[in-house]
Amino acid sequence: MGKIALIGAMDSEIAYYLSEMKGTRTESVYGFTFHHGNLWNTPVVVCKTGVGKVNAAICTQILVERFHVELIIFTGVAGALHPDLEIGDIVISSECQYHDMDASPVGFPKGTIPFQDTSIFPAEQKLIQLAVKAGKQIEGVKVLTGKVLSGDQFISNVDIVKSLYEELSGVCVEMEGAAVAHVAFLTGIPYVVIRSMSDRADHSAHVNFYEFEKLAAARSCEMVRFMLANL
Ligand code: ADE
Repeated sequence: MGKIALIGAMDSEIAYYLSEMKGTRTESVYGFTFHHGNLWNTPVVVCKTGVGKVNAAICTQILVERFHVELIIFTGVAGALHPDLEIGDIVISSECQYHDMDASPVGFPKGTIPFQDTSIFPAEQKLIQLAVKAGKQIEGVKVLTGKVLSGDQFISNVDIVKSLYEELSGVCVEMEGAAVAHVAFLTGIPYVVIRSMSDRADHSAHVNFYEFEKLAAARSCEMVRFMLANL
């Protein structure tokens, strides 16, 4: 089996992997640091993408083209859109889409990329199923599979939450998943995004975000331990 890419947007989202990795060698490409090594006996490349879609896309492209990774698992935190989700609950991506792609004034539905067949990028079925199993190992959290929406905005407004949920059917919102998914789709590499809810994307989102960021990140990383053992 080739290397598995484990990525997150922030230091806190990859800190757990780095602390558990053995034989680590680092390599810098275009300012991104790639950590090669073994995690629980599986060869992995771990990288912090940085925040936002372009960072996530470039990082993913490097992982695919230079490091020939076999599959990509993105873990981190997100704002909840689905009303059943509580802070700490987990979302597994069935698919990802940009919520800030909007050419509706010239006739394209919101969220769709003009002149492109695919605007919704499906995650890999086996990885989804494995991630759901992994999530069920964690006591006291709900695990939901659904569409992850991404955009270059931190959402903290209930009206926007309502429209993202109702119009684009997103279950959670973050800032990188769809960019990773887009590159994975174009290059044919299987991927899944796992997000723990750090906030409800409402007026207290910024407070909840900092409060729950570490716990949420630790939870999704814990799921990866289960997934690597059961791939
Ligand atoms: N990541 C975590 N919470 C978020 C939010 N409310 N909006 C965008 N990205 C997030």
